[in-house]
Amino acid sequence: MTERFAILPFAPAHLAAISDLWVATWAKTMPDIDFEARRPWFHGHLDTLQAGGAEVHVAQANGGEVAGFVAIHPGTGYLDQLAVAPAFWGKGAAEALMDTAKARASGGIQLDVNQDNPRAIAFYERLGLKIVAAATNPASGRAIWRMAWRPG
Ligand SMILES: CC(C)(COP(=O)(O)OP(=O)(O)OC[C@H]1O[C@@H](n2cnc3c(N)ncnc32)[C@H](O)[C@@H]1OP(=O)(O)O)[C@@H](O)C(=O)NCCC(=O)NCCS
Repeated sequence: MTERFAILPFAPAHLAAISDLWVATWAKTMPDIDFEARRPWFHGHLDTLQAGGAEVHVAQANGGEVAGFVAIHPGTGYLDQLAVAPAFWGKGAAEALMDTAKARASGGIQLDVNQDNPRAIAFYERLGLKIVAAATNPASGRAIWRMAWRPG
């Protein structure tokens, strides 16, 4: 069942919640990796993304809980981060965040997704993104798809 989500610009008060949901959702998605150990990297990466011109938007559920976030660069259209807390999977938070990303990056979106992340790939395909290339993540060595969305 879908819910309604408010999309808010990221504020420092959101950091603890988005950090917790980033660790939880990735631990569920890739249980072989210790994402808790990567939390400091995540905090630095968020700073780096924003310093480089990316925007971070947060989805807030009716009850006030932070359900997820997206990091999108309006100029390049590169979507570096999309994460929704497991408790909000399948409830529409990810779609609300992608609606905002599409509105902010009106020239189109590109992103990289691990080929062994079928849930995310199915989600992006449902929203009209297409696989445009295969590559290898230079940092992790994992096979990735480059996916893209172009406005109609
Ligand atoms: C990716 C993510 C944002 C999607 O949000 P979500 O709320 O889970 O997405 P939805 O439930 O709306 O859609 C997921 C789709 O995948 C499908 N799915 C789930 N598991 C699947 C699997 N193993 N194989 C294929 N499809 C699968 C679901 O059925 C659903 O499709 P449907 O609505 O057509 O039935 C969220 O799962 C998440 O945060 N994952 C961890 C972080 C991540 O992977 N981020 C993206 C990195 S590029």
